[in-house]
Amino acid sequence: MMPVPAKTELQALMFGNRLTKRLKHLNKWARRVGVEAFRLYDRDIPEIPLVLDYYGSAVSGSLYKRPYQVEDEEERVWLSAMSQTITDVLTIPPERVFLKMRERQRGKAQYGKLAGQRVTLDTREGGLVFRVNLSNYLDTGLFLDARKARAFVKAESAGKRVLNLFCYTGAFSVYAASGGACAVDSVDLSKTYLDWAMLNFSLNGFEAPDLTSCHAMDVGCFLEESRRRRLVWDFIVLDPPSFSNSKKTRGTFDIRRDHRALIHQCLGLLAPGGSLFFSANARGFRLKPAEFHGLSIQDISDILVDEDFQGKKTPSRYLVKPQHSGKDILDRS
Ligand SMILES: C[S@@+](CC[C@H](N)C(=O)[O-])C[C@H]1O[C@@H](n2cnc3c(N)ncnc32)[C@H](O)[C@@H]1O
Repeated sequence: MMPVPAKTELQALMFGNRLTKRLKHLNKWARRVGVEAFRLYDRDIPEIPLVLDYYGSAVSGSLYKRPYQVEDEEERVWLSAMSQTITDVLTIPPERVFLKMRERQRGKAQYGKLAGQRVTLDTREGGLVFRVNLSNYLDTGLFLDARKARAFVKAESAGKRVLNLFCYTGAFSVYAASGGACAVDSVDLSKTYLDWAMLNFSLNGFEAPDLTSCHAMDVGCFLEESRRRRLVWDFIVLDPPSFSNSKKTRGTFDIRRDHRALIHQCLGLLAPGGSLFFSANARGFRLKPAEFHGLSIQDISDILVDEDFQGKKTPSRYLVKPQHSGKDILDRS
């Protein structure tokens, strides 16, 4: 391996100082609010384009593609210096530091499985527990930036029939159940993620089949079938990927192109007085209320940013309610 350049050594030092400072601050907060996993570092220093999530006994991180060309060997040396800093500051053994390369992903690659030994752990937040996989996917199974959004869903769910679309590993669904939902339907294309969602339900003691149902289906087909069967829900969670293409769907899904149709389809399935929680992760995406007539659209993005994501780019989130009576909605569907 080539020797570590002086510039890299200096960056490692700056990185170490930043990690130490963040760890001290966030550890205190995390203990106080009962959170075990948090975002420790998010490209705070632009020349160090890493994102690190701290899981107490392990770290899951990504190296973002640089806007300029770097030789493989140079990048390897650089990454090894930063990994060393992570293990030193966090006192975590190197085999518990999982760093992945993240490029702008379109579709399938983002949710594909990575090779290697399977390393999982259970992490707590909001009095609940979730299984995360640190080794085999780009994402661990729990999006930490949605923590407060999950708490919001919990607070909205009491006594309601809740539908969670694009449910992934079911974190929103588990929160809905813990908030006292009377029924929780979870929909995702992936059987693997639905099995994971069921595991998360059982880790939290929600195993009753009359409370939770998982549907391995394309969301578009599920919504269409539900409309035909005149099914309704009181609260719908719509947190889709920015883009998706799968062999199991008819075409591609693109949030910028498809969000209006999707939102209207969901509104057609709301019971009188029902509401929709909509979240979008696409860079710079904002709902334009002027494009939606007869709806109350509340931008709740800012109130759902937790301590570890303050000042960072976070998803835009909305609470959407029909302004006219529930009867009108049922008549239209
Ligand atoms: C980024 S995750 C959504 C985040 C999730 N709502 C959460 O709570 O963390 C994207 C999920 O959408 C699923 N998905 C993508 N396209 C789909 C489709 N057309 N129908 C159903 N699920 C789909 C994927 O399998 C994946 O689990």
